[in-house]
This record gives sequence, structure tokens and C-alpha cells, in this order.
Amino acid sequence: MNVLVINASPRRERSLSRQLAHAFVARWQSLRPSDAIVERDVGIEHPPLLTEAWIAACFTAEDQRTPDQRAVLAYSDAAIDELAQADIVVIATPRYNYGMPAALKAWFDQVIRINRTFHFDRTEKTWPLSPLLSGKKLVLLSASGEFAFQAGGLREAWEHLEPHVRTCAHYLGVAAHDMHHVAIEYQEFGDQRHRDSLQAATDAAKALASELAVDVAHAHA
Ligand SMILES: Cc1cc2nc3c(=O)[nH]c(=O)nc-3n(C[C@H](O)[C@H](O)[C@H](O)COP(=O)(O)O)c2cc1C
Repeated sequence: MNVLVINASPRRERSLSRQLAHAFVARWQSLRPSDAIVERDVGIEHPPLLTEAWIAACFTAEDQRTPDQRAVLAYSDAAIDELAQADIVVIATPRYNYGMPAALKAWFDQVIRINRTFHFDRTEKTWPLSPLLSGKKLVLLSASGEFAFQAGGLREAWEHLEPHVRTCAHYLGVAAHDMHHVAIEYQEFGDQRHRDSLQAATDAAKALASELAVDVAHAHA
């Protein structure tokens, strides 16, 4: 099994989403010590933003690409190779301006790519895009300053992180039932509600790692 961890916070030691990723990975490694853990730290080393040259290179057949076009796609190629090899994708991210940070969006833009992660069929008049990857699980580990973004919550209408990741996850090869979300809330308040949320999310991340480790063991038995 391969676990790909995408860390998206620009903060290092102080990052709560990174803390959650550590809790998940530590539990995973204690249960499955031989699994490979690959980390791509988009919060510290930002993926390049897309350019006209990048788009043109994508739409050029692989065997027709110039050396410059190959170079412009190098980050995307490496990130897609990591993704393709992953069985579990862990995305640890802050909530910024009610959605994902720009660095994480830049990673999605680099990996959701025509003829690598999705196929485009113009004759399909309703759903022309179909994913080329499948069977992956996604664990979203988020940290927010505010709270109540869940269904029925006070800020449900301001929730643009989980729904966006869920939609993009389709093109990572993740079925809707294979996405899980553990959230730390109330960071900006620093009060008991935050301490409780941090504890509950840490416990939930560890429990999720245990649950998924059992699932993959059964799936490969
Ligand atoms: C630029 C910026 C924008 C933020 N926007 C939001 C927001 O829209 N909603 C929210 O609940 N918290 C927001 N926060 C708070 C962060 O989500 C919170 O600090 C979280 O713990 C950051 O994740 P990290 O601890 O992994 O770095 C924002 C923080 C920063 C620095």
C-alpha cells in the first residue's frame, strides 16, 4: 500500500492540519509499518501556477512535445505519478477564505490533466469528462479558525472547502463513499471549544487510520 500525504499549510510546527496528518500517519505506520508514505509539501514548496505554455503542452500529443513542453509539464508528471501510485491520499489543509488555500488548488490544477487523470469525449453531450484513475481513498484533514461548516451548521452556506475537494476527488479516482473528512474547528477562539475540537479530531484521525488499515487488509486478503 502507498499513502500519499499532501500538506498544504504554510505553517510548520504551529500547523494544526499538519498535526492531524502526523496523528493519522503515526497510527497508520504502527499498523502497517511496511507501507510507503510519500509526502508532497505544497504548503512550503508551492506547485507552479498554470500558464498558456502548460495548457498548450497538455494538449500536444506526448510524442510531439518539444523539450520545453516536457519541462513545463515536469511538476505535473511527477505529481501525477505519485498520485497514480497512491492507494490512500491524505490531504491536510487549512481553510483559507472559506475554501482551500491557493497552493492546494495549484496542486489540483497540476494533477487533474487531460489524458493523464481524465479522458475528454466531446461526443458525450452531458458528462464529457471521465476519470482515468479509480479505487483510491481520500482522507481530508482540515483546520479552521471558525466553526459549524457542516450540514445544518451556522456556516453551512460558507463551506467551500469540503465540497470543492469532494468534486475534484472524482478526478483523483476517489468514489464519493471513499472520501472522509476530519476537521479541527475554533482555532481562532483558542478556548475550550477549540481544545475539545482538537482532541476529538485527533482521536477521529487515529480511529480513521485504524479503520482504513483494516479495510485495506481485508481488500488484499
Ligand atoms: C489567510 C488566512 C485565511 C483564513 N481564512 C479562514 C476562513 O475563511 N475561515 C476560517 O474558519 N478560518 C480561516 N482562517 C484560520 C485558519 O483556517 C486556521 O488558522 C487554521 O488552523 C490554519 O491551518 P493550520 O493550523 O494547519 O495552519 C484563516 C487563516 C489565515 C491565515
